[in-house]
Amino acid sequence: MSVFYITTPIYYVNDEPHIGHAYSTILADVLSRYHRLFGDEVFFSTGTDEHGLKVQEAAKKRGVEPKKHCDDMVLRFLELWKKLGISYTKFIRTTERRHKFVVQNLLTYLYERGDIYYDTYVGKYCIPEERFWTEKDLVEGKCPSCGRDVITIEEKNYFFKLSKYRDWLVTYIHDHPEFIKPVSRKNEILGFLKKELNDLCISRPKSRLDWGIEIPFDKKYVTYVWFDALINYISNVGVYRNNDSFQKWWPATMHLVGKDIITTHAVYWPIMLKSAGFELPQNIFAHGWWLIQDSKMSKSLGNVIKPIDLIDKYGPSSFRYVLIKNMTLGADANFSEEIVIETINSDLANDYGNLLSRLVQMVQRYYDGVIPESGAESKSEKEIIESGNRLALTVREAVQAIDLNKALNSVLSYIRQINKYIDETAPWNLQKKGDTEKLGTVLYTACEAFRLANTFLAPVIPDKAQQAHLVFGDEILNHIDDINTSQDILQWGRLDPGIKLSPTESLFPRIEHKKRVRKKKMEKKTKKEERIDVNHFQKLDLRVGKILEVEGIKGSKKLYKLVVDIGDEKRQIVAGIAGHYKKNELLEKEIVVVVNLKPAKIMGVESNGMLLAASKGKKLSIITVDQEIAPGSKIS
Ligand code: MSP
Repeated sequence: MSVFYITTPIYYVNDEPHIGHAYSTILADVLSRYHRLFGDEVFFSTGTDEHGLKVQEAAKKRGVEPKKHCDDMVLRFLELWKKLGISYTKFIRTTERRHKFVVQNLLTYLYERGDIYYDTYVGKYCIPEERFWTEKDLVEGKCPSCGRDVITIEEKNYFFKLSKYRDWLVTYIHDHPEFIKPVSRKNEILGFLKKELNDLCISRPKSRLDWGIEIPFDKKYVTYVWFDALINYISNVGVYRNNDSFQKWWPATMHLVGKDIITTHAVYWPIMLKSAGFELPQNIFAHGWWLIQDSKMSKSLGNVIKPIDLIDKYGPSSFRYVLIKNMTLGADANFSEEIVIETINSDLANDYGNLLSRLVQMVQRYYDGVIPESGAESKSEKEIIESGNRLALTVREAVQAIDLNKALNSVLSYIRQINKYIDETAPWNLQKKGDTEKLGTVLYTACEAFRLANTFLAPVIPDKAQQAHLVFGDEILNHIDDINTSQDILQWGRLDPGIKLSPTESLFPRIEHKKRVRKKKMEKKTKKEERIDVNHFQKLDLRVGKILEVEGIKGSKKLYKLVVDIGDEKRQIVAGIAGHYKKNELLEKEIVVVVNLKPAKIMGVESNGMLLAASKGKKLSIITVDQEIAPGSKIS
């Protein structure tokens, strides 16, 4: 048994929760539940980030005090987590006294050891993003992150010595390949660390913002909200207050974060911990974003998805399943109600729900609702038993690799195997023939196989899986936290014959398909394909290139000027990708370059080659190579 400490980001309370928040939390919940199932002791931390300008302004807009605003808003998160069956261990609010105490202690420690200093700062400040930028960070004079206007601010502030630790951090990341995942994010951080690392301004004068934790050594200031927020990960497990708890849980096994907040977690936070003398988390995992028709969700576009509405419509288990099934970890994914309906119908109604109702009907019809004994097992039963016993291993490995699609696919394919086994053994014919021994064997085998599959789906669809277990009189999942020593539920043979079934209503009724979906599929099929022969393709000289430098182009929001290493030479290429990638995200990327394209001038800048990218709607993704390979390698 090992300990597993997982965290979600703590959410801003300036607005109500949306699908992105729900996703991070569901993902952490699913991982926690799998780890408990496999016998680990789990601490699952989540909470709310309640200080800072955004919250202060949101409160002002509502005409209430910031604390009152937080108290109101936090209820929305708590209500959502309750509806979704989120099994967190401890919820933390950054306005709690226990957290303030930790933040102030840590600040004092860092100040006394000389890693925090007082200085004058002149900088460009973005109010909505609450952060300073240097002149060279700005894109056409605007905030490089949100594109809005910045203002010049000159003031005295406290700074944390990030720069002092840059080289140490780079070495640490190289020495710990598991530290930042997926690899693309690790490369992004290494790219970011290639540039000069400025010290971090960690105070805000109260004259400008007073909604924050007071700096313990200077009462005129409050703490920068990110500096305060990151510390939640150690304060929620008792640092400085409960040594036993802290020793037990820290370092965290995994910080789960969205890709947009990877820099704060993989640069600021490790340096804060190092300076304070604490160990670093084992892994920081960045998941992608949920998009709507390839675009970001935003209030102004009116496309924000409210999880509560969907949960009320489809139920918490379906909602959880759809989110986990349809996002490959690390990548972005599109959300639509059509995807919700398709996923529920195919996996949950057709495969899972259908299997359960077939089993219940047959056991009722042929055995008066009592689970029969199994007789001699033939080859087909042995196959089902073997696959069932293998499932624990496959799912465990997939969960370790945070590959939940793989975990779900393996359970779903087992469910399909059971459905096929029933079709092939045809219990209805065995009944007609009077072959009662075989009939009992088939029904016992199929019921036990379902129980196993259900156990491995339970972390994703806890309430429905519980209902299904109760059909077989099995309450074990009610006590999942107490079963650390009884791992027998993960292997074949736990279901007792002789149990009387307690039928339930259909767990996942089919949802009426919208006509629109079918129409779209038809359109896709009828699109004519135009074929070329291989000679045409071979005319292209495609090679792997490594991006060495990235620069903006004056007067253009869309274009970047890249210097790319293509093996035997360096090429300057102009590419229309500025709206899609930040400069530092591109550095070191290995891309696909069309080398034998005639040079052209774009906005007066020579472009000698072209890079390949995929695009759909407003979304664009550069084609990269799967494994590191020397620049100049030929692509065929
Ligand atoms: N308060 C900070 C985190 C501090 S952690 C010490 C914060 N809060 S947030 O409420 O803005 O966002 C929280 C999380 O939601 C982030 O991980 C972010 O990536 C995630 N999501 C926000 N929108 C999202 C999607 N559309 N899709 C998936 N997740 C996204 O940042």
